Amino acid sequence: MTGSIVVTGCGGLGSAVIARLAGGALPVVVIDNAEREHPAGAIGERCDVRDRAAVTTLLRRYRPVAVVHTAGLVGDAAKAQPALAESVNVGGTATVAAACADTGVPRLVITSSLAVYGTRLAAGPAEDAPPAPRSHYGRTKLAAELVAATAVQDSSTALVAMRLAGLYGGRDGQGGWMNAGLDAMLRAGAAGHDIDCAAPATGREHLHVDDAADAVRLAALRAADPPVVVNVGAGRLDSVWELAAVLRELLPAVTVRARPEPGGVDRPLDITLASRVLGYRPLIGLAAGLRRMLERLRASSQVTR
Ligand SMILES: NC(=O)c1ccc[n+]([C@@H]2O[C@H](COP(=O)([O-])OP(=O)(O)OC[C@H]3O[C@@H](n4cnc5c(N)ncnc54)[C@H](O)[C@@H]3O)[C@@H](O)[C@H]2O)c1
Repeated sequence: MTGSIVVTGCGGLGSAVIARLAGGALPVVVIDNAEREHPAGAIGERCDVRDRAAVTTLLRRYRPVAVVHTAGLVGDAAKAQPALAESVNVGGTATVAAACADTGVPRLVITSSLAVYGTRLAAGPAEDAPPAPRSHYGRTKLAAELVAATAVQDSSTALVAMRLAGLYGGRDGQGGWMNAGLDAMLRAGAAGHDIDCAAPATGREHLHVDDAADAVRLAALRAADPPVVVNVGAGRLDSVWELAAVLRELLPAVTVRARPEPGGVDRPLDITLASRVLGYRPLIGLAAGLRRMLERLRASSQVTR
């Protein structure tokens, strides 16, 4: 094969990225170690991203112009299995980056997280804010950025680390805790149960997975000179009151109780760089994003009302 795009991980974000790329000029190959249904048109390969020989073989076979690395452990999965999270998030990223460098892949996009900012998050940091992760997960994502940079240095592979805000809109509540929480609220409401809407009073950033996938696509295929580290956020915050109001509008038959919690931020991630260099613009507001989730839930007949 003389050109393709390889996506590792076919979870919430990976499948949204594949859905955007499939049917384009280049074949899309998806690597996952689990049996995952992938969007139509993509070629599925079962492989553990920590297996350097296997990843290298696949990259030699498909000769990608870009690799998008989304495979990893996030949310409850990362919390419950810290050693595995470290092994996959750090070791898997090092392996993928080394295989890209060895096989001359021109561009590698890795999916990092706002969790690398940790204590600095409240102020809406730009990329030059010093990382200060607070969680084990955040430390694995920062370590992944560092090991990837080391693996590709002195090679022809250009690395882009995208620091993504919390994602929602991924299928079946998989991925991070934000998607799981919103999915649970929608399921409850759609089944006719009242909703306890617990979220920070000051506000939280909700990044729809399709906006994130657009940013990833722009970094993988469009940007002439992509930044090494770039924030990708929603560009706005939604408070618990706004979230509750959207849920009431979507599910008028049930009672939605707003439960303000601590832990919000004062400003969203600074996305000036993504906007300037990638032409990225978040398009999906919370009401539209939750409506899509609800429609998908109802269409899959997982809820009865
Ligand atoms: N979900 C979020 O809120 C969020 C926020 C910021 C950054 N990110 C980052 O985005 C990326 C994708 O997140 P997601 O929400 O799609 O996660 P997800 O859990 O929905 O999907 C992860 C996928 O990786 C696969 N995988 C796990 N271990 C693997 C291995 N050893 N080899 C091959 N495949 C493996 C899983 O089978 C799964 O399909 C992750 O790197 C995550 O850290 C996610």
